[in-house]
Amino acid sequence: MSNRRNWLKQTSLGLVGLGIIPLESFAMPTKQDILEPKEDSLIRLKSNENPYGPSALAKNAMSTSIKVSNRYNWELLEELIREIAQKHAVTDQNILLGAGSSEILNVVALYASKKTGNLIIADTTFDYWTITAENAGLKKITIPLTADKKHDLSAMLNAIDSDTRLIYICNPNNPTGTICANEALLHFIKEATKRTKVLVDEAYLDYTDQPSLANLVTENKNLIIAKTFSKIYGLAGSRIGYALAHSETIEEMNQLQFATNGSVSVVSASGALASLKDHKFVAETISLNTAARKYTIEQLEQLQIRCIPSHTNFVYFSLENYNKDFFEQLKKNRIIGTKIYEEKGKWSRITIGTMKEMQQFIKALE
Ligand SMILES: Cc1ncc(COP(=O)(O)O)c(C=O)c1O
Repeated sequence: MSNRRNWLKQTSLGLVGLGIIPLESFAMPTKQDILEPKEDSLIRLKSNENPYGPSALAKNAMSTSIKVSNRYNWELLEELIREIAQKHAVTDQNILLGAGSSEILNVVALYASKKTGNLIIADTTFDYWTITAENAGLKKITIPLTADKKHDLSAMLNAIDSDTRLIYICNPNNPTGTICANEALLHFIKEATKRTKVLVDEAYLDYTDQPSLANLVTENKNLIIAKTFSKIYGLAGSRIGYALAHSETIEEMNQLQFATNGSVSVVSASGALASLKDHKFVAETISLNTAARKYTIEQLEQLQIRCIPSHTNFVYFSLENYNKDFFEQLKKNRIIGTKIYEEKGKWSRITIGTMKEMQQFIKALE
């Protein structure tokens, strides 16, 4: 099974292995779930999807575009690239599209692996994609998070040596939900990119007030930003994301895609284009997520479950003081959570669903 599929099924498989979740309860919606969603179907709090998406504008655009799906549509992709460039105040040459930001991470992994050396990454972070870099010959060096579960930027900077080809910063970080302070991150980028490439994954940045680093790529050949439509835009199943980088860097990276920008379908591109215009949907998602996240953290803490303050649509928490069998409670209540990320402290993560889902989640734990 490919690593990608492993990632999609990650926690369910682990839990199945442990006998915690039966095989039939994979978090993937069944065909039936998609065609006729039922009120009482599984509560999916595993993969940090947006429970409210896609936006109404995106759904409309996507259903209309089905009719022209018999055609390649390079013009539509060009239009999408133009819109993304405008959003970030960069040029079209600074953008590369992919089938989800997973494809972008994969391309960056291959790009950084053109010369042998090492890759520096936090422990714990979103690291499924690094298998590509390791298979292509890079050695992975992991740098522990700080005690408050943040990237240790100075330790990561100190770890750079003449063999370092790439440093990955997930900001905000998955699974911990923590964010790097803007000033500290800017300083880190300035110093680190003098010596190596830096990949900043902004998958969840839209849930915060922090500005994107996109504007830096026009001047900095060693900085690559990964973005996705899977989270705030609610298009996880559509598989669309993009990279922002210097035009020369994009040109080198697109050699590693069989057809440049070509893995994005007409339907996904239409949905993404419409989503970029649906500011109301984004604002609503943020406000609903903030309310459900606040509720969840308050309730978890009442249950003596320590939470890390979150800047995302998920929460990282310690089950150390929780006396029941957490995964058994989820299973009994048809809730799909994820795994234990760190044995020490029994740290796990829950996606913020709708308020109703989070109330069901809390009730299941009480
Ligand atoms: C930090 C981070 N980056 C990238 C991805 C990949 O997302 P996608 O391929 O759906 O864009 C995820 C998915 O959860 C993620 O959490």
